[in-house]
Amino acid sequence: MPATRTKKRASLTNGLQSRPSLGTVRRGEPTDLDQGSDSSHLGDSYSTIRACDELESAPDGAVLDATRTEKFEPIGAAIIAASVAERRASGRSTHFARPVNESAAHFVQEVHLDRLINGQVTDTLGTLAIRQLSTLDPSYTAGVAALLEAVPGMDEATAYPVQLCLNELLQNVFEWADSRIGCVVLTRWFNKARNVRIAVVDRGVGIPARLRRLQIAGLHRAKDADVIIAAVTRPQLTSRVGRAGGLGLKTIHETVTQRGGRLTVISLGAKVAWNAKARTISRNPRFFRGTAIEIDFRPDRPVKNPDAYVSVF
Ligand SMILES: Nc1ncnc2c1ncn2[C@@H]1O[C@H](COP(=O)(O)OP(=O)(O)OP(=O)(O)O)[C@@H](O)[C@H]1O
Ligand SMILES: [Mg+2]
Repeated sequence: MPATRTKKRASLTNGLQSRPSLGTVRRGEPTDLDQGSDSSHLGDSYSTIRACDELESAPDGAVLDATRTEKFEPIGAAIIAASVAERRASGRSTHFARPVNESAAHFVQEVHLDRLINGQVTDTLGTLAIRQLSTLDPSYTAGVAALLEAVPGMDEATAYPVQLCLNELLQNVFEWADSRIGCVVLTRWFNKARNVRIAVVDRGVGIPARLRRLQIAGLHRAKDADVIIAAVTRPQLTSRVGRAGGLGLKTIHETVTQRGGRLTVISLGAKVAWNAKARTISRNPRFFRGTAIEIDFRPDRPVKNPDAYVSVF
């Protein structure tokens, strides 16, 4: 396994936006997470953010109704689990009504989303179950790497980019987020496409708020989306005072997009997504307290210009 982290520069262009789809919750009534049959990945996170915002202000015992939900994305499922964890932390329980749709129900069962919502400990359920981490747990990352290395055609070297990205994401949560629930993490492996998709969601201060505290380089006046873009693409932009840093998100961005993958960052008022060719900026339907990040890429896809990577340590 490489002993150093590697970084590379990237250039990006603007992309398209998406539309939200809604859900509601009131006392004694379910939160509707139905996204319709044409829901896209963006549509999923939009409707989820809106429904979770309503869920969080709902009283004890509110029902999270996913009966009509047709598809879950890891980031959506992790956002839901994080909202429920927030409710639990403030002493409110949540009931979960499972989806009717067969593949959505299968997903819920496979990742144990209902168990997490019902407050059951999921630590021992295996690496592919949705997990709430309250500390930086290196065994989670090691478990994901071991799982990938066991996939035919993968090895330590091809699993390494995943381990690197996951490490950086989890380190950021426990270094910067101040999230009372820690974070929720969900890893999925897609055998046919040979893609890994990982979502990490915290309910802390959010990337824009954390970086604005420093009042550096005019960021305190910048929009949430612009601060997120700076955090991800500008080298050495860090909240770490007097020490090197600011390379984690940049490394993730480059690791993922160099392999033709996708990086999505949702924090406070903005959602910014990157793929190899474009950058998409959109506003969240409701303010999202915290940070939700999803990466989706094929770890063993050859990188075009490996020489462009330079060691920084
Ligand atoms: N989950 C998060 N919550 C709040 N702020 C965050 C979060 N993740 C990143 N940040 C902010 O974004 C900045 C850049 O993060 P990045 O991972 O790129 O660098 P770093 O953590 O400062 O240093 P390095 O990762 O190189 O050790 C952080 O310094 C912090 O201000
Ligand atoms: Mg970092």
